[in-house]
Amino acid sequence: MKNLIFSDYRHFDLAKKIGRELKFPCQRLVIKKFPDGELYLRFPSSVKGNNVILVFSSHPQPDESLLESYFAVKTAKDLGAKKVILVIPYLFFMRQDKRFNPGECLSSRIMAGMLSAADYLITVDPHLHRYKGLKEIFTNKAIRLSANRLLADYIKKHFKNPIIIGPDIESYQWAETIAYYLHLHAYVLRKERFTSRRVKIKLSASLEKEDFQRKEIIIVDDIISTGKTILETIKNIKSLGGRNINCLVVHGIFAEKAREKIRKTGTKVISSNTISSPVAKIDVSSLISKEIKKLV
Ligand code: R5P
Repeated sequence: MKNLIFSDYRHFDLAKKIGRELKFPCQRLVIKKFPDGELYLRFPSSVKGNNVILVFSSHPQPDESLLESYFAVKTAKDLGAKKVILVIPYLFFMRQDKRFNPGECLSSRIMAGMLSAADYLITVDPHLHRYKGLKEIFTNKAIRLSANRLLADYIKKHFKNPIIIGPDIESYQWAETIAYYLHLHAYVLRKERFTSRRVKIKLSASLEKEDFQRKEIIIVDDIISTGKTILETIKNIKSLGGRNINCLVVHGIFAEKAREKIRKTGTKVISSNTISSPVAKIDVSSLISKEIKKLV
């Protein structure tokens, strides 16, 4: 029995790194479109009786990735794979965890229903806000890893005098844990979201008392999507006199030119490579490899 890694083209680099660490062969799935636009997917080698590890990205085309990963899992099973482990480093659709407006689709539940077809799901820092855990929506064994330690190590290596700030209550899971690893205090701010593109951040009284002189401000969060949360936070911190502002996130989606907009404020932004981009400097491949090793 062999352990085989297959990936989509978007996360092939990460899949190869995982393959090198585990010494498992890694191949790209054949994914293309039929002339009418329908999805075509093929495994390039036999999976029968072998453990199949599928590494899929969820951006920049989340809807396509969802269908591709679902087809890949179902096909691996059909072809007689022994265990199917699906690795989706950034778990898409998780922010739609309730019906914010009547009649809305609960995307997170539907996604989890589909991807529970794999024996295992491995993901990094899923956006768990209203759900207590992945168990609430996945029926297979869904494993949640965290890049917090890697983010803390990056801060330790690159900053001398950091202040850790989380932009909203949902970011406490990252801000407080990272601050704890660094023996620091985390300031967690409050955010009001009006639409997916309009938010307002409220500063905390304790942060207003901070002396920003010679301090490196590090805003930490799980996701940057439109960047509105971070841009509002930057604006508020600047109003307090903060100048050396940096931003570290696990998942850099950077929708609607968010990276450029943040860079224009003079803020340095770094993410992990759960989604690949030029600022994805924090590598999660060992974190994922260690987990896969326990399952095969
Ligand atoms: C939500 O609560 C998350 O933790 C992020 O703050 C949010 O998803 C960021 O979205 P955006 O970049 O669009 O403001």
